[in-house]
Amino acid sequence: MTEINTLAQSVRDIASVTASQLLAYISVALLLQAVMGVVLAMWRRTAPAGAPQAAEHEDVVTAVKGAWSGWRDFRVVRREFEDAAQTQCSFHLQAVDGVPLPTFQPGQYLTFSLKLPEGVAGTPAGVRTITRCYSLSDRPEAAGYRITIKRALAPADRPELPPGLSSSFLHDHLHEGDVLQVKAPSGHFVIDADASVPAVFIAGGIGITPMMSMLRWCTEEQPERLVHLYYGVRSSNDHAFKRVLEELAAAHAAFKLNLVYSSPTADDVPGHDYQHSGHIDLALLRRTLPQGRHQFYVCGPPPMMRSLVPALREWGVQADDIHFEAFGPASVRPRGSLSNEPAVASSASIDVRFTRSGRTLVWDGQDASLLDLAERHGLAVDSGCRSGSCGACQTRLLSGIVTYADQPDHDILRGHCLLCVGQPQSALVLDV
Ligand SMILES: Cc1cc2nc3c(=O)[nH]c(=O)nc-3n(C[C@H](O)[C@H](O)[C@H](O)COP(=O)(O)OP(=O)(O)OC[C@H]3O[C@@H](n4cnc5c(N)ncnc54)[C@H](O)[C@@H]3O)c2cc1C
Ligand code: FES
Repeated sequence: MTEINTLAQSVRDIASVTASQLLAYISVALLLQAVMGVVLAMWRRTAPAGAPQAAEHEDVVTAVKGAWSGWRDFRVVRREFEDAAQTQCSFHLQAVDGVPLPTFQPGQYLTFSLKLPEGVAGTPAGVRTITRCYSLSDRPEAAGYRITIKRALAPADRPELPPGLSSSFLHDHLHEGDVLQVKAPSGHFVIDADASVPAVFIAGGIGITPMMSMLRWCTEEQPERLVHLYYGVRSSNDHAFKRVLEELAAAHAAFKLNLVYSSPTADDVPGHDYQHSGHIDLALLRRTLPQGRHQFYVCGPPPMMRSLVPALREWGVQADDIHFEAFGPASVRPRGSLSNEPAVASSASIDVRFTRSGRTLVWDGQDASLLDLAERHGLAVDSGCRSGSCGACQTRLLSGIVTYADQPDHDILRGHCLLCVGQPQSALVLDV
C-alpha cells in the first residue's frame, strides 16, 4: 500500500514538473519567434540592391520558386543572330551579383526596364524608360538566361512611323558587357509536365521563342514524349534556330519538325529546307497529326492567333488543352470574365476618377481598356506590354470594381488593377 502511495505521489510530481516545464518551453518559443520575425524584417529592409530578396508582399503569387522581387542587374555576356536576315538576335544574360538563378518554367518570360537615350528610334529629348517583356528562349539553367529579340520595323503600310523602340535599341545599342534591369521570370504560358500527352507547338515568326524553351526542356527531360513543332516563317531568310532545330530532329525520334514557309525563296528546297508551303492552318494539323489527345501551345502574330485558336476549339479540342500567348495587345477572344470582385451588372456609362490629375473621365464602352481611355484623353500613364504581362500599368484601385476579360499573366497586387487589360464594372477611383 505504501509503495502504491509513493508511486502515485511520483506521478503527480512528474505531471506538475512537466506542466511548468511545458509553460516555460512555450514562452521561450514564442519569444524566439518574435525575435526571429524582427531580425528577418530588418534583414529584408537592409538587403543590398540587386541581391535576390524575398517577395515584399504576401499577396503576390510568386511566379517562380526562389524569384527575386523588383529589378536585378544582368550583364549581356554574348549576343548572336539566329536567322540569315539578322533580324532576330539572341542575348545571353548573367546576373551581375553572381547568385545562381532560380529555375523557371519553360514558356515563361522576363520583364525589362530599358533606359533609352535620346535619339534612339526617334525618342524625344531626354532619357526615356520603357518596359518590355521577352520570352526565355532556352531551357532553364542556373548559370544564365537567353532571350531572342526580333527587330520591329514600322508597319509596311505606314513606313513613316518610327520603328520599334525597345527592339531597335537592343539590336543597335546593346553590346556584350552592358547591363540591363530585369524582373524575375513569370507567366502562365508554360509546358504541362504530363509526359503522357503529346505536345503540339505552333509558332509563327518570333513566336518560336517560348517554344524553343519548351522544346529544349522536353527533349532533355522527357525524351520519350511525342512533340510536334509547326513553325511558320516566310522563307529560310527569317527561319531562326535552323541548325539547332535540324539537329534536335535528327537526334530525337519523338520530335516531329514541320517547317511551313509562306514565301520560299528560289533557293529554298521543299522537303529539305521546309516541309509545307502556305500558312499553318487547321487543315494542315488535321492532315499531319495522329489521332488522339494533344496539348496545343500557340504563339504567333495576331492573324494566326485569331484564326487558329478558335479553329482548334471548333475542331473539338478541349479549352484546357489549348494554351496560347500573344506578344502584344490580346488578339484572341477571351474565355470569360474575371474581376477583383464577384461580377455584377455593369452600367452604360461609368465615372473613372484619376486622383493625381484630378480628372474624371466617362467610360462609355468605346475603349478597349482603362489605359486606352486615359491615353485618349491625354493622361500620361505608365505602360509596357499592353497585354497584362509586365505590370508597368499596375495602379492602386482606391475604390470600385475592375474586370478582366481573361486572366492577366501578371499577378496583381491586392488593392491594385491593371489598366491595359482592365475595364470598369462600377465607378472607379484610381491613384494615378
Ligand atoms: C509575354 C511576352 C513575351 C514576348 N516575347 C518576345 C520575344 O521573345 N521576342 C520578341 O522579339 N518579342 C517578344 N515580345 C514582344 C516585345 O515585348 C515587344 O512588344 C516587341 O519587341 C516590340 O517592342 P518595341 O518597343 O520594339 O516596339 P514598339 O515601340 O512597342 O512598337 C511596336 C510597333 O508599332 C509601330 N509603331 C510605332 N509608332 C506607332 C504608331 N503611332 N501607330 C502605330 N504603330 C506604331 C512600330 O513601328 C512597331 O512596329 C513579347 C511580348 C510579350 C507580352
Ligand atoms: S502594360 Fe504591361 S501589364 Fe499593363
